[in-house]
Formats: sequence, structure tokens, C-alpha cells
Amino acid sequence: MYPNSRVWSALKPVLPALGLLLACPPPVARAADEGPLSPTALVATKDGRSLFIACATGNRVLRFDIVENRVVATIPMTDPPLGLALAADGLQIFVTCAAPESKVCLVDVAKNQVTGSLPAGHTAMAPVASPDGKTLYVCNRFNDEVSFLDLGTKKERRRVKVQREPVAAALTADGRFLLVANHLPNSPADADNVAAVVSVLDTAEGKVVKELRLPNGSGSLQDLRVSPDGKFAVVTHILSRFHLPTTQLDRGWMNTNAKTIIDLARMEIVNTVLLDNVDSGAANPWGVAWSADSATVVVAHAGTHDLSVVDFAAVLTRLAKLPAKIEDSKVADYNAASRIQTDVPNDLAFLVSIRQRLKLPAGDRGPRAVAIIGTKAYVANYFSDTLAVVDWAAPYPEWVSIPLAPKPVMSLARQGEFYFNDAGICFQGWQSCASCHPGEARVDGLNWDLLNDGIGNPKNTKSMLLAHRTPPAMSMGVRDTGEMAVRAGLRHILFTVQPDEVAGSIDEYLRSLKPVPSPILSDSALKKAAARGKQVFVRAACATCHPPESLFTDQRPYDVGTRGKFDKAADLFHTPTLVELWRTAPYLHDGSALTLRDVFAAHNPDDRHGKTSNLSPEELDDLCAYMLSL
Ligand code: HEC
Ligand code: HEC
Repeated sequence: MYPNSRVWSALKPVLPALGLLLACPPPVARAADEGPLSPTALVATKDGRSLFIACATGNRVLRFDIVENRVVATIPMTDPPLGLALAADGLQIFVTCAAPESKVCLVDVAKNQVTGSLPAGHTAMAPVASPDGKTLYVCNRFNDEVSFLDLGTKKERRRVKVQREPVAAALTADGRFLLVANHLPNSPADADNVAAVVSVLDTAEGKVVKELRLPNGSGSLQDLRVSPDGKFAVVTHILSRFHLPTTQLDRGWMNTNAKTIIDLARMEIVNTVLLDNVDSGAANPWGVAWSADSATVVVAHAGTHDLSVVDFAAVLTRLAKLPAKIEDSKVADYNAASRIQTDVPNDLAFLVSIRQRLKLPAGDRGPRAVAIIGTKAYVANYFSDTLAVVDWAAPYPEWVSIPLAPKPVMSLARQGEFYFNDAGICFQGWQSCASCHPGEARVDGLNWDLLNDGIGNPKNTKSMLLAHRTPPAMSMGVRDTGEMAVRAGLRHILFTVQPDEVAGSIDEYLRSLKPVPSPILSDSALKKAAARGKQVFVRAACATCHPPESLFTDQRPYDVGTRGKFDKAADLFHTPTLVELWRTAPYLHDGSALTLRDVFAAHNPDDRHGKTSNLSPEELDDLCAYMLSL
């Protein structure tokens, strides 16, 4: 029906002669034989007539006309576009194209064309334009930094360090503070309190002035949005009950799914509200959007494929009624689920009657972004390449589902990626594999007490990268292969029995994962340190157990002096791979070492874990740089 991309690129050289064609770009979204689009971010134009849709794996931005209900333009990008923002004057959109050295493409809204670009860091996302039109803020996810880009000079003005993997950001109405959601916690995992923070940056001073710590167990932050009236921000995240043994799922025993409300005048957390129902989880909360009157908040649940439409005004009223402490003189209100403010983050009934859960049609899977125009929510569905629309204010809200491209034919690996992110295969929809293995099946930074190696000995979540190539699986090697670990995960963590096709496709997905180049490699000083560190690695005899030629693991069990307080005297741990260490903190089987330096400075008694006591501080730094470069 449409010219495919090969025809299009063949046409390109003669395009100057075909000025007319350029002025009227073809509405091609994807030819049937291409890979998936994976829509992942949305932004509406000022007039509310169009939506731009960033397609992460389709390397393009689509323009969707909401009156004609169709894609009217396709803007190709060279790298995966992960984020979109509208300029203050509404004339441009900013598209963050993610790569180890990312670019922000400037797109002219009238012409649907890229007109220039700005440099950004590693895996740029979540662009935010300042109201004065002078600055663009961009999260460089894998540098743990936010770039301040000067829109006048088209240069970077400064970078500000935040905690870990910034993935979402929003400005206060006056442009004074930028709130940044850190995807993961940044602490040792054997601590009692482990939680991600929202960093608050003063944009004039260019530094972090406050950190808002979410409740214990908070992580996998995905989106953060400020209300149009400028009073509140909402951030979506998972609230993990990592202190409990993973014996069951009922009532959110392992993972619950939440939004935290921030009061922007006080710059304080108001409270954390669970989005689950008592008998059905609302897994993997992702995109957030506000209605124009700030009275409604909509959250997309990427794992359970539904939408929460929350009466925000009613939430505030309900929260305001709760005292900080139980007052003895008062008779308890047994109709209220929470009695005091601190009950709320554990209250699976808090939203009863003030929230609608709207299930997406069966053809719409993996909602990750929401935009609101009027009382309509537009939802970008990552796995089905569709846009779903619903008018939540209608008496019986009905979905309209619009394909953005011919129905994708999923490869086996893509199907596996879908199941890995799908809480539809979990008992009561509480979690997906990605709830503990977020960010393309990596780590959540938490310790979990899985039962496969006994009870009472929590282990740090492992990355899936190379899991199938470095058997046995699990730090104590209790599963012979990655394949067995996948099947055990379905049965004992998601509490489900699935046809083997499901596990088989997950295997294929996990085998297809590729290491992301380390952020260290784009820093010339650190790159040099890493080269020196390679020699230290050899001298300290690390390669006997971590041979570089076989993925840095001999796959054998040892006692390298790292047993912690919950381990048994005979416990041995399997040598892990060192590939992508830069991304998988904290370290060791119990996550007791926050940094690689800690692995050796604090957890290597009598040089049982490589000869490191004789290394100078500089040599140790070099060794760490090397490991972080892998
Ligand atoms: C509640 C959190 C949680 C959930 C949900 C979860 N995992 Fe894990 N997973 C872990 C932890 C913790 C470990 C490391 C355990 C250890 O080292 O003993 C792990 C380890 C693994 C490993 C072994 C990796 C290696 O290299 O040794 C595989 C494979 C795995 N998980 C697959 C899955 C799959 C597939 C799912 C979904 C069916 C899943 N996990 C869901 C927490 C979780
Ligand atoms: C005798 C075998 C052996 C030697 C030698 C050895 N390692 Fe290890 N390494 C292990 C084992 C086993 C673990 C897992 C320990 C645990 O989880 O508690 C490990 C874990 C690690 C980790 C943590 C990885 C993670 O993902 O948590 C790092 C980093 C590491 N080793 C680096 C080194 C370096 C650098 C050297 C040389 C100074 C070295 N190792 C020498 C066996 C060894």
C-alpha cells in the first residue's frame, strides 16, 4: 500500500527535484517486513490537534492527527528516539535520540522536519524545555547526569550529577526547580532501607539542592509530571516488599505499584498511594499525565495493560483527613482503609471509589506513555504498535484502537521481551519479570529472599545479560542453566504455569541481549585509567577466575571471603561475569558492596578475593575503571 523504505531511500537523491514530494511527506509508518516501532513517548502540539509519537525501535517520530485519526507524517531519526518535549513557543519539538553519544534533534512543527541537533550524553531521554525558551534539560541515563543545553548557542552549558539512571524530569511552573526521577536506588542492598530518590535541581545554581527519598523499597521510577496548576508532581514507581521471603503474591506480598505525590510549594513528599487493588495488581506503572484542570491523573500500567484514572482532588481530600498519629480520644473510622498518614503506602484500598481502572483492548499491549487532550487519554502501546484512545469522562468509556503500522509480526525474541514485561501471565497481575529485572532485563538493586537456595538468605538481583551463556544460574548455582531459572521464575516467582512457548521465547529474548557500551569509554581520562587497570587485573591474578576470553567467568564456585551474616558456613558463590558491571551495582551475592572499590577495600579479607591489599589507591582506581569499562 505504501512505498517501503527501500523505495523511499532510492528516491532520496532525486528529491530536490521533487520539491512537491518533500512538502508533502508520505504517511508511511513502517513497511510490513520491517521490525517493530515500539511507541514510547508522546507530546501534543499547543493547539491539541496533533500528537508526536516517538518510536523507540522504529527510529522515527510519527505525527498523528487527532481529528483525522491517522498518522500524517513520518520523521526518520538516526538513533532510537526515547523522549519528546515541546518548545515553550510550540514551534519546535525536541527529540532525544539515544546512543552512547546521544543527539537531541530539533524538529520544526510546521514542516515536520529535522532542522538541527544538539549534543547530549549516554542514552539521553526525558527532555524538558524551560518556559523562557532558553534552556533544554536532558537526562543522560547512563552518565547519571542531567545536561543543561543552551538553545541559543546550541551548546551544553553544564552537567549536573544525580543519583542513578535519571529517566524522567519536570520543571516547576516558574522554571526554578527541575525534579528528576532516578530509576534505581543507589545504596548497598543489605541495608534496612533501600529506596530511589527524586533529585531536586535548582536551575539557576545548577546543582542538586534536595533529594526526596521515596518509601523503603521504592524503585523502577518511570515518569514524573507536574500538574498544570503547578502545585503537585506525581512520580510512578514500584514499591517492593523486599524484606519478606518470596513465598506468595497475595495482597502485594512482593511488589506493589505506586505513585508518589510531591507538594511543590513545600518541596516535600505528601504520600505514596498504591495503584493496585487488593486482589489484582496494577503492575509496572509507567507514563503519567494530568488533565488540564489538574483534577485528574492518569497512569499507564505497562505490565497489566490498563489505565488508572484517578480523581486527584478526591485523593487530596482523603489524604488531608488523616492524622499523623492515632489519637486515642477518637473513635476509629472502620469505613476508612487507612487510619493515619503512614498507613497509606500499605493500603490496597485507598483508591476505592475514586479511581477507574480501564482495561485496554486485547490488541493493545504494553502502554508506556499517556497524553491527555480534553477528557481523552491517548496511550502509546509499546508492544502492539498502536495508539489507544479513551474518553474517561464518558458514562461507559470505550476504547478506540488505532494501528500505527501494519500489525507487527513478532520475532521469537520480541515475543519473549513481551512476556518478560507482561504481568498478564502473573498470578493476579502483581508483577512481571521486569519488575525485579527492569531496564532491558537488568537489575533493581534490591535483595530478595528467593526460596530456591533456602529461606532467610536474601540475594541481590542478577542481570540477565549473559545468564544463558554462563551456567549455572543464581549466585549459588542452584539452577543448572539459565533456561531452568526462567522456568523456575515463572512457576515460583510469578506463580503461574505457562506453555513452554512462553519460557522458550523468554530464553530467546534473554539470549539476544547485548551489552551496552560503558559510559567510561567516552571519557578519555577514564579510558586511559581503564587501560592501566587492565594490567593491574593481570598482576592481581583476577583472570584465574575471571578469564577475559570466556566472558570473565570460570563458572565455578568459591569461598572468596564474601559470606555475609545470613549465609551458611558452607555456602559457596559462583564466579559472576564482569561484563557490564558499570550498570549492575550494588555488588556481590548480597549486594553488600555499593561500589567496586568497596568489593576490595571492605570485603576482601586476607586477599582471598584476588591480591589487592598491596595495590596503591591509584592502582585500585585504575582497576575499578577497567572493570567499569567492560
Ligand atoms: C521478586 C523479584 C524477582 C522477580 C519477579 C524475578 N526475578 Fe529473576 N532473579 C531475582 C533475583 C534476586 C535473582 C538472583 C538470585 C540469586 O543470585 O540467587 C534472580 C536471578 C534470575 C536468573 C539467573 C541469572 C544468572 O545469571 O544467574 C534468571 C535467569 C532469572 N532471574 C529470570 C527471571 C525470569 C524469567 C523472571 C520472570 C518469570 C524473573 N527472573 C522474575 C529476582 C526476581
Ligand atoms: C578464586 C576465584 C576468584 C578470583 C581470583 C577473583 N574473583 Fe572476583 N569473584 C569470584 C567470586 C566467587 C565472586 C562472587 C562473590 C560473591 O558474590 O560474594 C566474585 C565477584 C567479583 C565481583 C563482583 C561482581 C558482581 O557482579 O557482584 C567483582 C567486581 C570481581 N569479582 C572482580 C575481581 C577482581 C578485580 C579480581 C582480582 C583482584 C577478582 N575478582 C579475583 C571469584 C574470584
